Amino acid sequence: CGIVGYTGFQDAYDIVINGLRRLEYRGYDSAGIVLEDKNNNFEVKKTKGKVSDLVDISENLKGTSHIGMGHTRWATHGVPSDRNSHPHVSNDGKIALVHNGIIENYDTIKTMLIGKGFTFLSETDTEVLVNLIQYILDAQNVDFPQAVRYALNEVYGAYAITVMHQDYPGVLVVGRLGSPLAIGLGDKEYFIASDASPFVEFTKEAVYLEDGHMATISLEKGVDIRSIKENEKIEPAIQELKVSLEQIEKGGYEHFMLKEIFEQPKSIQDTLRGRLLVNEGIIKMAGIWDHLDRINKAERIIIIACGTSWHAGLIGEYLIEEFARIPVEVEYASEFRYRNPIITEKDIVVAISQSGETADSMAAIKLAKEKGAFIYGICNVVDSSIARFSDAGSYTHAGPEIGVASTKAFTAQLTILSLIALKLGKHNGNLSNAEFMRLITELDNIPKKVEEVLKSTHDYVKEIAHDFVNSTNFLYLGRGFNFPAALEGALKLKEISYIHAEGYPAAEMKHGPIALIDENMPIVIIAPKKGHYDKIVSNVQEIKARKGKVIAVVNYGDEQVASMADYVIEIPETSECFSPIVASIPLQLLAYYIAVYRGANVDQPRNLAKSVTVE
Ligand code: G6P
Repeated sequence: CGIVGYTGFQDAYDIVINGLRRLEYRGYDSAGIVLEDKNNNFEVKKTKGKVSDLVDISENLKGTSHIGMGHTRWATHGVPSDRNSHPHVSNDGKIALVHNGIIENYDTIKTMLIGKGFTFLSETDTEVLVNLIQYILDAQNVDFPQAVRYALNEVYGAYAITVMHQDYPGVLVVGRLGSPLAIGLGDKEYFIASDASPFVEFTKEAVYLEDGHMATISLEKGVDIRSIKENEKIEPAIQELKVSLEQIEKGGYEHFMLKEIFEQPKSIQDTLRGRLLVNEGIIKMAGIWDHLDRINKAERIIIIACGTSWHAGLIGEYLIEEFARIPVEVEYASEFRYRNPIITEKDIVVAISQSGETADSMAAIKLAKEKGAFIYGICNVVDSSIARFSDAGSYTHAGPEIGVASTKAFTAQLTILSLIALKLGKHNGNLSNAEFMRLITELDNIPKKVEEVLKSTHDYVKEIAHDFVNSTNFLYLGRGFNFPAALEGALKLKEISYIHAEGYPAAEMKHGPIALIDENMPIVIIAPKKGHYDKIVSNVQEIKARKGKVIAVVNYGDEQVASMADYVIEIPETSECFSPIVASIPLQLLAYYIAVYRGANVDQPRNLAKSVTVE
């Protein structure tokens, strides 16, 4: 979910609505806004649907207030509906609250409150919290911020909240545990948001609230940060924002996803910048260098991640085992954290996360750290929770990724993993100098190859997409480094086009998926020259013998696979280890255009959210 809040001198409606539009990638099944008018009354508008639906019912609030907050929802408790949308208001009508996260013990509190005569309009855990605050205010001799603090001490779970009270005009109270919240510091105005994008054009100064902290924000007294448990005063750590407005806008593309696909030559270059110094023959990575002893002692590396980042992790396993010869395991964060994993002080746990906020990934590294492992974070969002919690790490400098389906963050993750594997391999003597030089020279050329692929395949992939717009199933196959690339290709397609797609190691096809193959089954097969090419040729023969439709991604000048395939997408040759980066580009475009032709909402696919801050 996304939260926006504002107190200051500008029109709160505009700031909240525009902010919600920028945060919509975080969840978009419902949206709502509350503003406080001149007489300190609340105006609440909320609806199932998108921010644009909210605008349709709330435009009359424009210009009526200088304080307010809004919410864009990704449902956890209670179906998307008008009633379950945020903000939620307390029984006495005086407190309004927006919430991102899950209150796990809401049921017990709800029963208690019902016993005290409270009534509930929604099925949400959030409405329980707002009424708990009212209950505490009514029953105890405390002020509004203290009541919020007391209430937060009663709840378990994860949250970022913003609360307003009619008797405290101009005041916003915020709190965080597990879900992100940033406070933008302007000149006589303050902004609240789940990430800084809603306020980058107004201020470059922000405070990222820490877990377990809350803040009372008012124009008179500024920002007062306290620990939720002890009420201890905390000095705000002010940070300079680096994101610019252009970075979070579409820049002439129809969708963020397309813009982000086309940004990849640059985002990969940005990830390499300052790290890959080919002329000097070195890879510079402070995160690795500063902890080299610790990393070299590792008996095992465990990569944990979710979704696309998990696919990057699988390729990371191939890279690190190949070049650094350190055993690697890759785990879904959500499984790892709940299965009593064996972790020791000799392990390095690498968390890969675009957002750096994924709840399962965060919980997994907390668990690993408790057991003594060294935590290495690979995040895209600077200063995100995972980045801050890690002992060391490397940022993928892909820039803000807004499209829900990850593209440039994925290839940036592969770039970082390549750098890490090569650096470790060189350092522990596993890679000869000549081999290292050859590989880094190739890696340095990857942005150019990606650029070339974008140019040379775009129009043709668009045509292919047109031919498959009515397909109901897809298979994606690859071997070696390109097996995870097949998984990712399939994930892209299902996320945004809602066509069922499965990725498989090409050789496993004969153990099941082959039963699905007939003339209606499109099969995307990644078959570059380097990497089990001959084996793939046999797999393509097996498919053609069953009349499957083959869309092959091959290298320039390929003859064998090309002669059998129905569609041939040509990409430049590269070492097998880097080929997933190059091969992913046409697969991203294919998913994108199929989804566009099907009329799907590419940037905001149904039921998904970009940053899943609940488990
Ligand atoms: C969500 C997104 C995916 C993403 C996954 C992990 O499900 O929709 O695109 O891969 O979370 O996110 P992270 O931010 O940890 O990489």
